[in-house]
Amino acid sequence: MSKFYITTPIYYVNDEPHIGHAYTTIVGDVLARYHRQKGDDVFYLTGIDEHGAKIAESAKEHNMDTQKFCDQTAAKFMNAWQALDISNDFFIRTTNKDHKDVVSKIFQTLHDKGLLEEKEYEGLYCVGCEKFLTERDLVDGKCLDHKREPDTLKEKNWFFKLEQFLPKIQELIESDTIQILPVTRKNEVLGLLKENVMKDFSVSRQKTSVAWGVDLPFDDNQVSYVWVDALSNYITAIGYPDDMDKFKKWWPADLHLLAQDILKFHAIYWPAFLLALDLPLPKTLFIHGFFTINGEKMSKTIGNVIKPQELIDKYGVDATRYLLLSQFPFGQESDIREDHFVERYNADLANGYGNAVARVTTLIEKNNLQIVINKETTWIDSLAKDYNNYRFDLVIKNIMSKLQELDGYITTNEPWKIEDEKKLVEVLSHSANELWLISQGLLPFMPNIAQQVLDILEAKQIKKAPPLFPRLVDNANDAN
Ligand code: MSP
Repeated sequence: MSKFYITTPIYYVNDEPHIGHAYTTIVGDVLARYHRQKGDDVFYLTGIDEHGAKIAESAKEHNMDTQKFCDQTAAKFMNAWQALDISNDFFIRTTNKDHKDVVSKIFQTLHDKGLLEEKEYEGLYCVGCEKFLTERDLVDGKCLDHKREPDTLKEKNWFFKLEQFLPKIQELIESDTIQILPVTRKNEVLGLLKENVMKDFSVSRQKTSVAWGVDLPFDDNQVSYVWVDALSNYITAIGYPDDMDKFKKWWPADLHLLAQDILKFHAIYWPAFLLALDLPLPKTLFIHGFFTINGEKMSKTIGNVIKPQELIDKYGVDATRYLLLSQFPFGQESDIREDHFVERYNADLANGYGNAVARVTTLIEKNNLQIVINKETTWIDSLAKDYNNYRFDLVIKNIMSKLQELDGYITTNEPWKIEDEKKLVEVLSHSANELWLISQGLLPFMPNIAQQVLDILEAKQIKKAPPLFPRLVDNANDAN
């Protein structure tokens, strides 16, 4: 048995959970469940990022105390993940006292090691991005993402001596000691390292400009830059440094999932902090692209943000997870087309899986047959290749081909016409065993319904399954 420690990014608490967050979190969940199914010892971490000027600003806009505002949105994230059946082992909040204490300790260690240096910083700071921008990032003097002019900030900050770690980081990435996937993203990071653009950078902010953050133990006027605080979540969540037994059990992370916008922080800053703390490095970072919705960038202004609950209300939890992950290869920039969801739902789930389960279990109950499920799992093992390549769309495709084969088998053998009991048992036993395998395959994607089918099939006497996926009316296609 091996251990598997997997994380999602911690999401900014001033956003409401949307389908972009949900996608990453479902992928993490499918992997966590797949590894548990294989018998691995799994720790799946997700959570929220609660500090920084942007969050304090949002709270103010809502006329709320900042901590109360965080508590309220934290609950929205926790509820969304519960509704999506996310099986995370912990939910980290960066306003947890334990987390904050450790971030302070980390700063003290960096300070004691002479890795922090006080310097004057002047720059264009976008509160929306939570970072300093360069002139190059601006269009008409404004931040492209937030359509606002950045503030000019001049202040004394603590700088982290990043540059001394860069040659080592480059070597670790080149040799895949830290594996960055897909390989185009690895090359992107190596490009940054070779261009010499990564410099020592400021890891603290003056309290006068950002007050909502973790205090520095050696400087009353400064708080932690939000990214040091945020990245540390991956180790504070598993006990660093107060419960070293727990920490050593899980660290290093086997997999950090993230999107391209936060690649630099995870592939360069994070390894540098870990090297500075003499800690092992994460094994793999998997970077996925950004989603658009019906061809457009997801944005509150356009008003096309899809909340996970809207999909759950329409399709149910299991189908929502399935439909999102079956649409396109994970890793690429992709367009979520909700108009394809109904069609896919009806084809794969209502007419496909649901119908096959109904047909087979109805015939078994009607004929009062004793069917033995032999639980032979060789075929399940064959899904490993696509899982290892993070191709969840192909895992699903493989499972669906098996379902189509079974459909063909049932159509050819017409069990409803078979009179010879021995032959009938043979055909339905084969069908039930195939359905058992298909359900095992679907279990990480559809944890409720696949489990329900497994329970029906494994019962002493197989009973007719209740309707699993009611057929939906395809408004989008009907209109055409
Ligand atoms: N708080 C930081 C992460 C700190 S991790 C130590 C942050 N938060 S975020 O909420 O803005 O975005 C985090 C992640 O959300 C992205 O990496 C990505 O996983 C997911 N996504 C947010 N919007 C998305 C899309 N439109 N498409 C795909 N993923 C998106 O950055």
